[in-house]
Amino acid sequence: MPQQVRGVIARSEGAPVELTDIVIPDPGPGEVVVAVAACGVCHTDLTYRDGGINDEFPFLLGHEAAGTVESVGEGVDSVQPGDFVVLNWRAVCGQCRACKRGRPQYCFDTFNATQKMTLTDGTELSPALGIGAFADKTLVHAGQCTKVDPSTDPAVAGLLGCGVMAGIGAAVNTGGVTRGDSVAVIGCGGVGDAAIAGARLAGASPIIAVDRDPKKLDWAVDLGATHTINAAETDAVEAIQELTGGFGADVVIDAVGRPETWKQAFYARDLAGKVVLVGVPTPDMRLEMPMLDFFSHGGALKSSWYGDCLPERDFPMLVDLYEQGRLPLDKFVTERITLEDVEKAFHTMHAGEVLRSVVIV
Ligand SMILES: NC(=O)c1ccc[n+]([C@@H]2O[C@H](COP(=O)([O-])OP(=O)(O)OC[C@H]3O[C@@H](n4cnc5c(N)ncnc54)[C@H](O)[C@@H]3O)[C@@H](O)[C@H]2O)c1
Ligand SMILES: [Zn+2]
Ligand SMILES: [Zn+2]
Repeated sequence: MPQQVRGVIARSEGAPVELTDIVIPDPGPGEVVVAVAACGVCHTDLTYRDGGINDEFPFLLGHEAAGTVESVGEGVDSVQPGDFVVLNWRAVCGQCRACKRGRPQYCFDTFNATQKMTLTDGTELSPALGIGAFADKTLVHAGQCTKVDPSTDPAVAGLLGCGVMAGIGAAVNTGGVTRGDSVAVIGCGGVGDAAIAGARLAGASPIIAVDRDPKKLDWAVDLGATHTINAAETDAVEAIQELTGGFGADVVIDAVGRPETWKQAFYARDLAGKVVLVGVPTPDMRLEMPMLDFFSHGGALKSSWYGDCLPERDFPMLVDLYEQGRLPLDKFVTERITLEDVEKAFHTMHAGEVLRSVVIV
């Protein structure tokens, strides 16, 4: 029987989100219904609400979630009712060209549920990133469910489902940060601080945090930054060079995603260093710079989608590291809120007051 539960939807561009009744179908072949326990508020949810992703309104928001499998459809054997899972938006297909070449992190045919969740009048919902977890329950593909240790706090585990994984992976997977590398991270929100935590885990030193907000810099130190630069007061490129013996950093991560921060990342590298762009630019942004600089600085200019993660490989490992006290994932949870508070959380996020607000369902 389809079930009626509560969910937070964005009905039209820019309008405040609403908590309303939604309908979850029984899971079909390959599908799973998950009872959501916690779901973090990510910038991308706000971008959906503002029409910045596409115009397939109404959206069912929320995508950084953990919960318990309630029921499974035909042919699902990877999870069963009662399993504690983190939801992911990279259920790789195993069949596309990228998967067959051994690069499943670039899979371009990732799985989502086939059936649609709806409003009570039958209007189909577009779930954010194929998840939609600001809700009591959600319908996803079985491959979107990654089992992790059930004793983990769901508010912490769920964050691996998007921003924290994106940041850690930007450093460790895309940037290939390893012990002894010098690393700078521009923009110390949830994603940038996760990159800092990842760089620390990998043994980088120094780890230089750059932001314009002193509070963010304090949090960055708490997560592993060895030095901080307030970009509102100091030239970030010069300061990064000074802190790295005049050379520049081996890996510079742009976790803001603006032309000016990307240029800082480009010029703050050591010769042949890496730039990793993990912040998401808007369609209007343009870069203009001397082409000769690309040539003469050498190195690698990379972008990082979802931290080049493979959920089945990375989520359980990161949960283990958290439990061993080697990765302070709990520090990303600034506040715990309810489904009623998502709109308010967008404002808190916009004002830069949190690393993550997490909805406890
Ligand atoms: N690539 C991915 O897969 C992926 C996944 C999730 C999020 N993201 C993106 O990562 C970015 C960061 O996300 P977040 O949740 O950390 O956002 P956030 O708003 O919490 O953090 C951004 C930080 O950048 C700082 N900042 C802004 N302009 C700056 C400047 N000019 N110089 C220095 N610091 C500056 C802000 O003070 C803030 O601390 C967003 O663009 C988000 O969409 C990417
Ligand atoms: Zn594939
Ligand atoms: Zn996200």
